[in-house]
Amino acid sequence: MLVANLLRVASGLAYATLVIGDGAAIVDALNNVDSETKELQARVQNWSGDLFGTFPIITQSEHVLSSINDATDTAEDSDPLTAKEALGIATAVKTLATTVNGTMTAIINAHDDFEHLHIASIVLSNLETQKRASNEMSNVIIDKVPTALQAIAKNLAAPVDASFDQAIDVFSSSD
Ligand SMILES: *[C@@H]1O[C@H](CO)[C@@H](O)[C@H](O)[C@H]1NC(C)=O
Ligand SMILES: *[C@@H]1O[C@H](CO)[C@@H](O)[C@H](O)[C@H]1NC(C)=O
Repeated sequence: MLVANLLRVASGLAYATLVIGDGAAIVDALNNVDSETKELQARVQNWSGDLFGTFPIITQSEHVLSSINDATDTAEDSDPLTAKEALGIATAVKTLATTVNGTMTAIINAHDDFEHLHIASIVLSNLETQKRASNEMSNVIIDKVPTALQAIAKNLAAPVDASFDQAIDVFSSSD
């Protein structure tokens, strides 16, 4: 029994040390951020504006944040990326930027409902936290991209920031 448990722990540890990030793991992590962000968009678009309906939105907002932090961890653990890996990541970032645009648009459209319930400031603080986390994620990923491609990578990530900024602007002017 004890031996079996020890073996299980030991194999778990061996597995953990073997799992190093790479381009494919970063793409997976970015796709996970994308689907969590899409789910947030669906919940905001589906929201009727009542207080009860804010709970699934706030919960999903937390899921978005943790998926971003997971992607940052994955990128941190990764070895420097090859140009080919960077290309795969570029595609995932472009997809994510489109999704973030749609989600921020939905959040902006729902601003008045959030304000009506006096929770616009909570949404604002979530957006600011997510933007910071997303910035950190981008910076860590860009750091792993070959130097010659870093400027392009920055340009690809910029629209994500711009979308957050539009929503943050709208919620900053709440009462
Ligand atoms: C949409 O909202 C209704 C209740 O307002 C809920 O029953 C349904 O599960 C929601 N759908 C999604 C996709 O969130
Ligand atoms: C979404 O993208 C469109 C087209 O580029 C742009 O005009 C709009 O300002 C963006 N909205 C957000 C919230 O990022």
